[in-house]
Amino acid sequence: LNKNEFALNLLEWYHNNKRDLPWRRTNDPYKIWLSEVMLQQTQVQTVIPYYNKFTTKYPTLDDLANAEEQDILKDWEGLGYYNRIRNLHLAVKEVQSSYDSIVPNEPEPFLALKGVGPYIGGAVQSIAFNHRIAAVDGNVLRVMARLNVDDRDISKQSTVRSVKLFVETIIPLESGDFNQALMELGATVCTPRIPKCVTCPVQSHCESFKSNSVLLYPKSTKS
Ligand code: ADE
Repeated sequence: LNKNEFALNLLEWYHNNKRDLPWRRTNDPYKIWLSEVMLQQTQVQTVIPYYNKFTTKYPTLDDLANAEEQDILKDWEGLGYYNRIRNLHLAVKEVQSSYDSIVPNEPEPFLALKGVGPYIGGAVQSIAFNHRIAAVDGNVLRVMARLNVDDRDISKQSTVRSVKLFVETIIPLESGDFNQALMELGATVCTPRIPKCVTCPVQSHCESFKSNSVLLYPKSTKS
């Protein structure tokens, strides 16, 4: 992979084609964090109204930290995976008490917060603070497997960790945009069943496209 050219092609495409999503109109680390917690297991179109409701009702980290868990859970109804919001509530309370309500602008303390794993850690630290950390979700795993004709099982933690390290060798200075561009490519172009290779901005870099094997990737033992 020609990493520099790949990153440039992808970023240029993203700048011209990114969807106008509400969390892309803010620099507030709390709101970016909230959006990524919602997006980790839920589709963009479902998340939008919940994101708008939460940012209206709980516009600051302190508003969420000070709210009653029962009220927050009620507002989360329909999104599912309730541990996500329970953990976020605990985490923002911790930020309030330990960090003067300021989201840590550093991977280590942020990753120590409740519910913050490698995905949320990478997404928030790159999008809000431009740290060069990857945010590897299912979309990114599919894109990278196809680009590299990578036969490894993406349901394995070892594969995810390895892909994260590889992506971190590509990430340019605009790390938040780059991570979102990879996700966006997976969500809108490099889709699971009928990928739009004809219009793909990184087609020339894609080994599976060259060998006409796009649909064989990614490999997974889980469906
Ligand atoms: N999925 C996960 N994070 C996302 C983001 N920031 N924008 C769009 N889709 C996403």
